[in-house]
Amino acid sequence: MHSLKFWGWGVRWLRDSSLWPKRSTTMKRTWVKTTCALQEGQKENFFLWLSEFKIEGAWELDEQTVMVYSREPLPEPPALFVKKWQKEQEEEEEWGEKWREYFKTIRIDEELVIRPPWEKKTRARFDIVIYPAYAFGTGHHPTTEGCLRFIKKYFREGLSFLDLGVGSGILSILALKMGACRVCAVDIDPLAIEEVERNLTLNGIDISKVELLLGDIATVGGEFDFIVANIGPYFHLEYLPKMQRLLTGKGKILLSGFEVQDLPPIEEKIHQVGLTVLDAMVLSSWVSLVCQNS
Ligand SMILES: C[S@@+](CC[C@H](N)C(=O)[O-])C[C@H]1O[C@@H](n2cnc3c(N)ncnc32)[C@H](O)[C@@H]1O
Repeated sequence: MHSLKFWGWGVRWLRDSSLWPKRSTTMKRTWVKTTCALQEGQKENFFLWLSEFKIEGAWELDEQTVMVYSREPLPEPPALFVKKWQKEQEEEEEWGEKWREYFKTIRIDEELVIRPPWEKKTRARFDIVIYPAYAFGTGHHPTTEGCLRFIKKYFREGLSFLDLGVGSGILSILALKMGACRVCAVDIDPLAIEEVERNLTLNGIDISKVELLLGDIATVGGEFDFIVANIGPYFHLEYLPKMQRLLTGKGKILLSGFEVQDLPPIEEKIHQVGLTVLDAMVLSSWVSLVCQNS
């Protein structure tokens, strides 16, 4: 189940719209917040363990600390994965408040700002609104940030854009605001597709401007000037040949979603399919690469 991996990367809040703080009921529900200090190198295993339980959301506070919200208390996490852990009860209203506190305006650079709908519009040239919900891509994670920075650097008005693993739609929205002539966005998760529609609307973009596909890369046809895939290393290793076939001669492929230790086989694959690395960025050990035909 691929999507589990992404819980470990950032924000995967529950699809339950009751999380949006607009409740009028007098009954306060409670949440259990479990904060876990992870053993080194055990993040993936911890999230696999976590997948056995019904949780409402997980949040990476930093590289080694994860906060999990659930309705029922979690069992004691295995000592092999977790050094220290702490359980607390919170009332729903408190969650609502906290949730808003986590999502503040982020400034990627002078021209690019990402903000939730409840924060004030900025004067940035690209003022992007993302409703933080279930889909990945609020701009907080280093992989999304790396992609946003490289799109800013290499994408140009009038180019076509393919967004593999669109998530919240954040990258496609930037490409559209930069003047993409055509955008195709793909995700295997139906909830992501719904959220892209909501985020397009929040940004005043007509939904019909984006070809939104539920599925994987096999659903995509044609050629694109700019392809982005912020998905795990397994995806790049398997689908780089297909990505290269979808690329126009002078086009660029932006790969992200993997850490420095995953780089060697990916670089080898890049060369195997006739691409070269034009630019690279590492943010908190997460790598983003821009490739082009050799
Ligand atoms: C890390 S998120 C990236 C979201 C957003 N593009 C960003 O950069 O913040 C990866 C997304 O890829 C989707 N995904 C995972 N495997 C996929 C596949 N084989 N084909 C298409 N989408 C996939 C997930 O559902 C998820 O929404």
